[in-house]
Amino acid sequence: MRTGRTTTVVSLAVLVAGALASAAEKDVPALKDVFKDHFLIGGALNRRVVTGHDPGAAAIAEKHFNTATAENAMKWQSLNPWPGRYAWDVADSFVAFCERNEMAPIGHCLVWHSQVPRWLFRDESGNALTREVLLARMKDHIMTVVGRYKGRIKGWDVVNEALNENGTLRASPWLRIIGEGAEDKKYDFIESAFRWAHEADPEAELYYNDYGLESSKAKCDGAVALVKHLQSKGVRIDGVGIQLHASLEHPSVEGLEYAITSLAAAGVKVMITELDIRTQTRGYRGADIGRINRRSTQDANADAAETQRRLAQKYAEIFSVLLKHRKDITRVTFWGIYDGASWIGGSPLLFDRDYRPKEAFFAVLSAGRKDQ
Ligand code: XIL
Repeated sequence: MRTGRTTTVVSLAVLVAGALASAAEKDVPALKDVFKDHFLIGGALNRRVVTGHDPGAAAIAEKHFNTATAENAMKWQSLNPWPGRYAWDVADSFVAFCERNEMAPIGHCLVWHSQVPRWLFRDESGNALTREVLLARMKDHIMTVVGRYKGRIKGWDVVNEALNENGTLRASPWLRIIGEGAEDKKYDFIESAFRWAHEADPEAELYYNDYGLESSKAKCDGAVALVKHLQSKGVRIDGVGIQLHASLEHPSVEGLEYAITSLAAAGVKVMITELDIRTQTRGYRGADIGRINRRSTQDANADAAETQRRLAQKYAEIFSVLLKHRKDITRVTFWGIYDGASWIGGSPLLFDRDYRPKEAFFAVLSAGRKDQ
């Protein structure tokens, strides 16, 4: 009885939210139309959106986006939480949602040190794996996942966040175990991942994705070196994703332009893959997901008019840089749809907690219109 009533109240709330969202949405132009001659526009979709539990957010996505990325559903931990067993439901819903709504689906991500299951880097007795066994696990995972969606995914983030701030490779279990501490094996895990992803779906684009490329020139140079290494081995790499988890002060125009121009000069497409702007001004500034979460980014002034004005200005500045370099940029994806479901909390996106477009939305819109 109680459960029944709760369900009714929740369904009603969902309906009302959906109605409000569509009312708020009716009169504004679609971002995907405004930027159609420049780049794809998208967002990260979470489980609630793709399974029909957040119709307000789904309505925004359907209207504004022509591409989407799975926020968590295609990470190793979500897809393959137990050895040999896969859980496809949410990832399948994500791809189906994209297909129903004509959004190019982006697979995120195949090889990363974060959001991986505990068993991945250990054998049955708890010992560290050998290079061969870890390579075999990686191959099996990539062939299984990329193979399942063959022909349906526009591009894969094949390797995510493999670099340190100083441009060297991060000492993740992937590097330590497969690289075995040898200089001439350091790129092996990356090279293998790209080769297998290509083998599993020869039509899919393949990307390297990382944060901080716009704030550390050394890190950006490290990404360029990685691209050049793959190219020198004849391995397919189509693009590099600049995540762009920004803040009200960061990145500088110069840093962002440095990243876009150096990556483009290496001969790959450049994408902004996880755009949001943190409104909190104190505390940790980086983008390491071990250190960012809703608590570490709490922001008492998130909704203040002054904060929203600064947010709009930062979005306008970023979009003016992206438009200036539009010949090199193929996609801009926001990391979420609206503030209420952002991974960092506060007020980092274009739509507020009631699904209404914010000042930041209109700033992005006018940046785009100026350039139409
Ligand atoms: C984040 C998701 O948004 C959160 O829901 C999750 O709890 C942690 O991961 N870099 C990435 C993304 O490549 O996968 C991360 O997504 C954000 C940072």
